[in-house]
Amino acid sequence: MDKFLIRGGKALRGSVAISGAKNSALPVMAAALLTAEKVAVHNIPKVRDLVTMSKLLTFMDAKVSVAEMPASDYVIEAPRLNHAEAPYELVKTMRASILTLGPLMARLGVARVSLPGGCAIGARPVDLHLSALEKMGAEITMSHGYIEAKVPGKGSKGGRLKGAHIVFEKITVTGTENILMAATLADGETVLNNCAREPEVTDLVGMLRKMGAQIEGDGTATLRIRGVPELHGTEHRVIPDRIETGTFLVAGAITGGDLTITNCEPLHQGAVIGKLQQAGACIEEVDKATLRVRAGKKLAAADMTTEEYPGFATDMQAQYMALATQAEGTSVISETIFENRFLHASEMVRMGANISIDGRRAFVHGPAALSGTTVQASDLRASAGLVLAGLVANGETVIERVYHIDRGYEHIVEKLRAVGADMERIHGSGSGMHSATSAQGT
Ligand code: UD1
Repeated sequence: MDKFLIRGGKALRGSVAISGAKNSALPVMAAALLTAEKVAVHNIPKVRDLVTMSKLLTFMDAKVSVAEMPASDYVIEAPRLNHAEAPYELVKTMRASILTLGPLMARLGVARVSLPGGCAIGARPVDLHLSALEKMGAEITMSHGYIEAKVPGKGSKGGRLKGAHIVFEKITVTGTENILMAATLADGETVLNNCAREPEVTDLVGMLRKMGAQIEGDGTATLRIRGVPELHGTEHRVIPDRIETGTFLVAGAITGGDLTITNCEPLHQGAVIGKLQQAGACIEEVDKATLRVRAGKKLAAADMTTEEYPGFATDMQAQYMALATQAEGTSVISETIFENRFLHASEMVRMGANISIDGRRAFVHGPAALSGTTVQASDLRASAGLVLAGLVANGETVIERVYHIDRGYEHIVEKLRAVGADMERIHGSGSGMHSATSAQGT
């Protein structure tokens, strides 16, 4: 397995370009299953989860054309889907495989998707996806570890989903996306209440609308979808990755550097920019797609609570914790989205951080002089937090199990090196884009 070796203490300076959003690219690729026509998608990040999604679509008999793999431009054509199934072998490496359930049910009225298990950061059930599909007329059973869903119809084929009024008990990002996609081809109108308002949901709405879907309410908690008989092909460019952007904002601030972050969407960074400014970082919007972060005054503790968008993203919590270890005073970090998302804290403590955990709250006492050691990445965003800690630690930090970070950060080592990080990837046996076996993290 690959590892990262980081020699900390370098201030990062220069310019870094942000890739497309992993969490937008995944539903956008799945949405291509909704039409028999050609769908071209651009700005797909070259990360392992998208390679997995591509394999999943191919398994279902969609034709996925790319110049090379991993790619940033894909053409997907699914005239026939002979295998309405997401097999365990792929789902176990990527929970977001569940995003194929909605499109398959919409197009074919039948689907078999392996149940994603629990994961390091929490139980992460998909009950809200399933109960919404049931309200739309699907019959769902669990068998041999698989979700087997079917809309009763003629013969062995599935029927058509029916519009329904659905109130999500809890705000769920992929749940909103799945049911939104399912509703585009349903009979009649679907109203979804208590929807996720994440920019990735809005990006998906934009793409579906280009395919002919009739959707109102994007960016709000209520989506209203009038089902249409069929959708057509389109071309779509996914939005910049706001979590990668936030990670580089922290990288600039924590190392006392001066980073210009290009190809990003500053409008999606409100909560992160606000919190980092409160902690003492100096951040300015250079233009509509560029941010600059510099060390301001000394970093100072600032409490942070994770929330659904537009609040502070749980996917930025580990990175913020790394910053908090360097801030003067006690930062209280409250995690409200996932029940077990402080796994990185114990690794940061091994590096010299002073962190105590009480349930869903972490008390980070800073500043602490971090010293390099060998640490284990437990999930995707935890890995990013450890990389940031390594960038300010004294001496050498070795991060093991970096296949987690390869799931979601394009060329992270190259990008950090280009702005002055002293860091390298150490290749191990059985490593690389295709070898990981864990779906942990997000
Ligand atoms: C998505 C993101 C992930 C991010 C998370 C929260 C993708 C591919 N992943 O994950 O990076 O960390 O949103 O912003 O977009 N829940 C239920 N029942 C359900 C569904 C969810 O109880 O049926 C709970 C979850 O356990 C969790 C909370 O709702 O506690 C939010 O989860 P959800 O928004 O669904 O996360 P994902 O969509 O899996």
